[in-house]
Amino acid sequence: MAHNEKLALRMELPPATPQPNVYPLSWHAQTHKLEEIWDAAQRENWDPKKLPWDTLDVDSYSWEEREAIAYWWTLLSVFDASAPPVFASALIKTYEEHEEDPVRRCFFSITRDEQNHEQMCGLTIKKFLDYHDPLTYEPKTELGRRLQKNAKWLYYNGGRYWNGYKNAVPKYSLAVLFSSFLMGEIAAATIFKQMYENSRELVFKEAFRNIGRDEGRHMAICMALMERDYPKLAAEDKSLVTKQIRAGYLFLSAVLFEPPMEFWDLPEDFIPNQREAEEVARGAGFGIPTYEAKRENWRNAILNLKGVLDRYGIPFPAIPEVGISGEEVTEVDMASIVPVF
Ligand SMILES: [Fe+2]
Ligand SMILES: [Fe+2]
Repeated sequence: MAHNEKLALRMELPPATPQPNVYPLSWHAQTHKLEEIWDAAQRENWDPKKLPWDTLDVDSYSWEEREAIAYWWTLLSVFDASAPPVFASALIKTYEEHEEDPVRRCFFSITRDEQNHEQMCGLTIKKFLDYHDPLTYEPKTELGRRLQKNAKWLYYNGGRYWNGYKNAVPKYSLAVLFSSFLMGEIAAATIFKQMYENSRELVFKEAFRNIGRDEGRHMAICMALMERDYPKLAAEDKSLVTKQIRAGYLFLSAVLFEPPMEFWDLPEDFIPNQREAEEVARGAGFGIPTYEAKRENWRNAILNLKGVLDRYGIPFPAIPEVGISGEEVTEVDMASIVPVF
């Protein structure tokens, strides 16, 4: 067909539009639960800029405390600053697949929420470091210098994950993607609840309460979609899900527990530096859970997920790190993972 041939001159109706076409022109809806979640997302939307920032006095913290707290938010940003593009890609996929109208809106709401979470990371880091970028900031303390090295390695590893994700999105069905998303959301809902309970600073308490509520909704979105799609999940998709759960464990452990060294490419002093920073931050009233509490919570989050997948007869991977037995999954690398936060 010549580029500018006018089909309309010789055809009554246009030819069928090749699929996948990015816009559905249809607002079909079957999953009622998602409409409720969307309504909640509209009601609960919040603005990080409007938190009680005037109650925060950064000068009441030492520079070591400031750098330790900013480091935690930097670690979180490795996950939360990649979440807006990650969910934006998933949102596009829901349009290409002509998903239900409320599914499209729910993914839009996740993208917007994650953008809020990213803003929160940025606002805090800027306040605590008095600088806009933790990677090019000039550290003030010796611990701060070691933490910046940690941050650079985290950033490098996160970059490898993005390429894997971009390849995975067109390859996998939304149903497979949901299981990875769910893992991130269960984990996130857990950690933010703890951070809320254990943090002293009002602005952080408010932020963690809002973020935790957002993550709870994201979790509900994934659950509703799994309820819809998993009863008819194909066998090969089931084994993909098993593999993605193991990948999700390895990836998300970096923020929820400690990064498994066989998966993350990190220097040997990474974990000792991070533990030191967490101790300093906790001492300053910033609620990072202890090693034991993290392990316990991560284990519970994973058991929760296992409960969901068991319902659909999906084999669960072995996660010996937190004492969960199951199917052995090997050969997981950054180039083949989907999990997000
Ligand atoms: Fe988030
Ligand atoms: Fe989320």
